Amino acid sequence: MRTLKLKRAFLNFAAIKTWDMTVELNAFHLAILEGIPAELPRLKPYDPAINHAPKRKDILSPDEKKLALRNALRYFDPKHHQMLAPEFAEELQNYGRIYMYRFRPDYPISARSIEAFPHKSKQAAAIMLMLSNNLDHAVAQHPHELITYGGNGAVFQNWAQYLLTMQYLANMTDEQTLAMYSGHPMGLFPSHPDAPRVVVTNGMVIPNYSKPDDWERFNALGVSQYGQMTAGSFMYIGPQGIVHGTTITVLNAGRMKQHPDYNGGPKLFITAGLGGMSGAQPKAGNIAGVVSITAEVNAKAAYKRHEQGWVDEIVEDADQAIDLALAWQKRNTPHSIAYLGNVVDLWEKLAERQITVDMGSDQTSLHNPWAGGYYPAGLSYEEANILMATDPEQFKDWVRKSLVRQVDAINRLTANGMYFFDYGNAFLLESSRAGADIMNDKGLFNYPSYVQDIMGPMCFDYGFGPFRWVCTSSKPEDLALTDKIACEVLEEIAKTAPKEIRQQLNDNIHWIREAQKNKLVVGSQARILYADAEGRTKIAAAFNEAISIGEISAPVVLGRDHHDVSGTDSPYRETSNIYDGSAFTADMAIQNVIGDSFRGATWVSIHNGGGVGWGEVINGGFGMLLDGSAEADRRLRMMLHWDVNNGIARRSWARNEEAVFAIKRAMEQEPRLKVTLPNFADEKLIENLDL
Ligand SMILES: NC(=O)c1ccc[n+]([C@@H]2O[C@H](COP(=O)([O-])OP(=O)(O)OC[C@H]3O[C@@H](n4cnc5c(N)ncnc54)[C@H](O)[C@@H]3O)[C@@H](O)[C@H]2O)c1
Repeated sequence: MRTLKLKRAFLNFAAIKTWDMTVELNAFHLAILEGIPAELPRLKPYDPAINHAPKRKDILSPDEKKLALRNALRYFDPKHHQMLAPEFAEELQNYGRIYMYRFRPDYPISARSIEAFPHKSKQAAAIMLMLSNNLDHAVAQHPHELITYGGNGAVFQNWAQYLLTMQYLANMTDEQTLAMYSGHPMGLFPSHPDAPRVVVTNGMVIPNYSKPDDWERFNALGVSQYGQMTAGSFMYIGPQGIVHGTTITVLNAGRMKQHPDYNGGPKLFITAGLGGMSGAQPKAGNIAGVVSITAEVNAKAAYKRHEQGWVDEIVEDADQAIDLALAWQKRNTPHSIAYLGNVVDLWEKLAERQITVDMGSDQTSLHNPWAGGYYPAGLSYEEANILMATDPEQFKDWVRKSLVRQVDAINRLTANGMYFFDYGNAFLLESSRAGADIMNDKGLFNYPSYVQDIMGPMCFDYGFGPFRWVCTSSKPEDLALTDKIACEVLEEIAKTAPKEIRQQLNDNIHWIREAQKNKLVVGSQARILYADAEGRTKIAAAFNEAISIGEISAPVVLGRDHHDVSGTDSPYRETSNIYDGSAFTADMAIQNVIGDSFRGATWVSIHNGGGVGWGEVINGGFGMLLDGSAEADRRLRMMLHWDVNNGIARRSWARNEEAVFAIKRAMEQEPRLKVTLPNFADEKLIENLDL
């Protein structure tokens, strides 16, 4: 009798739950289809429990502020302007931007399964899933300000843009393309099924107007945004995206450089930043088998990573953090420690105590040094946030002095054998601009970028880069199956791979075998691994086949980090190992996005800024939906081949020998590929010329 009652209660509960879910789904559909609501939603209080973007600097003149308001109000029916104008003016005053907080939706934003999004086009639904993931509270750095990572990596500039975009995506067909200008959905334009469903441009400005303050001004006006790399292209997959790259970097840095006093145990790695991307460092350190200390000034960021299991413990005292690290080294056990404080204090303490540090780097957001990307030593986190808004010039002074101190301490440790590398955050660039002792007589940096030493010659020049995919069923079982398929494909390729790329393949086979165990998923059911054109194409084709026979239960989105072989022209990062003088050109990234768009990408993006800063880089990416169809198979083969070989061809033309090897091999594999090869001048001939 009791069992029967319990069973009935359970069935009732299940029915109520199903009913609740249906109601929630219907409300979600209605909200998406409504776009910007006809009636004003209730005003939402500023939630202090959320990690908010810092107040941006007050850069607009009174006339420009009026322009910003006119710009914001154009999204709304004039009957609401009376109410919204003062509200938006207050936001501009308080936060330096108009985010339109009132319009933040009530439903939770996350990577629901593809079928949960209202749609007429599967491709558009996949894009909704991906952009929702970028704004998920568990994933995004400042979700209420629509910032995914890097302090200013925006998906949209305001909530009206989000609402309109979702509405367009829900209504569009495969005969239309949505044009997006820095978060603003310009509209749906007629196109065709093979065309991208969405074309994204972020921060594209006339080159002479690409200084950091130009971004501040344009963004405050609501006419441009900093899309970072994968934030503005909806391809961010949480810190997993960078765990893999960081693991490869730390692993190879360790393989490559030995501290003179190295005595066998796990190496000691010191760095900073537990934010969006930098938060991957401690986990990558553990996977690479080192002991790491990562400094972080923002307690919210540190505790978020700790709760998510990305860092083993948090310590508030620099001496204690160092003692603990030494103890873990003695125990011969990889371990990750977060030091809650300023990294400059940590570096100075390490130098003062003459600790044997094997490897060092930094992943504070120095691409954005004046607006919350870098917190100077000597000020608390809160004090710094106030000063950067109230006295930006004085704040800049603090940042410069802090960088000088940081470099001095690092120099003392490298003199004692530490290997230091720039980790793609403009650390060397901004330190040199700050007047730190970081350049030699020839005007070159004293330290390499990780791309010059590691990522360029070992990966990008051979075509290996951060390929990724997302299972749109949002089911872990599908992800597990894709892991298995990808692993089998790589193992097969490794059997006949030339020795030049065997290490890369083996590192990635190891990675994918361990991926489940390392619990890397935050948000969407996503996976990343480094693969070349052959690997990416074969893995994608195998997924498509598995979807067509129903083995994988729903379509899969393919993509990659913009930080890749071909997608990014960035002289201080991705193309820092281009030495033929073309590092400051951006033809490769532009060619790439154009080429991807007519070879079958589901969406494409091209950005100014990303990684090292506004005006310092042009980067692009793509997303591609595999739905198990023959069309998807045709598109993936055409597009992935170009998406990798474009960059190898350019790297080969720059006389990078690894790339010459890779492009010759690609031409043997695909006779329709014909690439201009460089001749190498006799060095003696050049050196003996009297110039
Ligand atoms: N190498 C790569 O592949 C790669 C990839 C992505 C991002 N990046 C770059 O790395 C940087 C970090 O990216 P992110 O997404 O983690 O940014 P983020 O802003 O989310 O995180 C940076 C963190 O550094 C902390 N911080 C700033 N100054 C500090 C200081 N002096 N001491 C201690 N902590 C400090 C901040 O509080 C913040 O949490 C960016 O410049 C980004 O462009 C590099």
